[in-house]
Amino acid sequence: MNLKNKRVLVTGASSGIGQAVAIAFAERGATVLINYRSNKKGAEETLKAVEKHSTGRTYKADLMKDADIAKMFRAIKKDVGGVDILVNNAGDAGYGSLFDQKTWQYQYESILMTTVRTTRGFLKLKSGSQRRIVNITSFYGNLPTANPDLFAYSVMKGALNTFTATLAKSLGKKVLVNAVAPGWTWTPAWNGTSKAEKRAHEKATVIGRFIEPKEIAQAAVALAENDAITGQVLVVDGGAGLVRMP
Ligand SMILES: NC(=O)c1ccc[n+]([C@@H]2O[C@H](COP(=O)([O-])OP(=O)(O)OC[C@H]3O[C@@H](n4cnc5c(N)ncnc54)[C@H](OP(=O)(O)O)[C@@H]3O)[C@@H](O)[C@H]2O)c1
Repeated sequence: MNLKNKRVLVTGASSGIGQAVAIAFAERGATVLINYRSNKKGAEETLKAVEKHSTGRTYKADLMKDADIAKMFRAIKKDVGGVDILVNNAGDAGYGSLFDQKTWQYQYESILMTTVRTTRGFLKLKSGSQRRIVNITSFYGNLPTANPDLFAYSVMKGALNTFTATLAKSLGKKVLVNAVAPGWTWTPAWNGTSKAEKRAHEKATVIGRFIEPKEIAQAAVALAENDAITGQVLVVDGGAGLVRMP
C-alpha cells in the first residue's frame, strides 16, 4: 500500500514510540491524526514535526473512555472523512505482581481495552476499501520474555498478540492486521532509570544498546506498506529475546 495521502490515526502520539510513528508516516506523505490523552505540548511538538513533511491534526481523547473515543472519531469524520490506517500504540506500563489486583484492573483497561475500544471505533467508521491496523505490543507478551515484575502488563500484551491474529482472521483481506512487539526502547517511559539499570538492559541485548523509537516506527511503516502480511507479530528487540549459547 502506498502511504501517500492515506489517513493514519496514531494513538498515544504525544511521546516516545507514538511520536516517532507519527513522524515516520508523515515522511511517507500520509495525513497524520495525532491522538493524545494529557500531554498537549507533546502532541503539538509531534504536529510540528509532521508538518515538515505532510499534514496532520491533534485529537485529545482518553482511550479508556468510550465517550472520548466516540467524540474523537466524530471529529475525525468531520475533518478528514475517515481513517485508512490505525496504529494502536497508547498505553501505560505498570509494575505489579500476580496478587496486585489494582494493577491487573488498570493494565486490562490501559493496555488491552484501549486497543479493543479504539479498533471498534475505527471499524465502525466506514473508510477506503483497503485498510490496515498495526498494534504496538511488547516482547514481554511473548512466552520466553514474559516479565513477572510487570505481570499483568506482560499478560495483556500477550493478549494483544492473540488479538492481532484473531482480528486478522475475522477481518480478512479488507483490513490487514499486524503488530510490532518492541523490546527495550529509549522513551520518556524510562525516565528515572539509573545508569546501572540502563547498562544492565543494554548488556542483555545483542546490539548492546536500547532501541530508538524511530526503529520501531520503521517496522510499523513496513507492516502498513506490505500487502501480503497479516496476523503477524514482528519482534524488534535488539536480540534481547534470543537464547544465547554458553
Ligand atoms: N519503551 C519501551 O521500552 C516499550 C517496550 C515495549 C512496548 N512498549 C509499548 O509502546 C507503547 C508506547 O510506549 P512509550 O515507551 O512510547 O511510552 P510513553 O513515552 O510513556 O508514551 C505513552 C503514550 O501513550 C499515551 N497514552 C497512555 N494512556 C493513554 C490513554 N488511556 N489514552 C490515550 N493516550 C494514552 C500517552 O499520552 P499522554 O502522555 O498525552 O497522556 C503517551 O502519548 C506502549 O504501548 C508501550 O507498552 C514500549
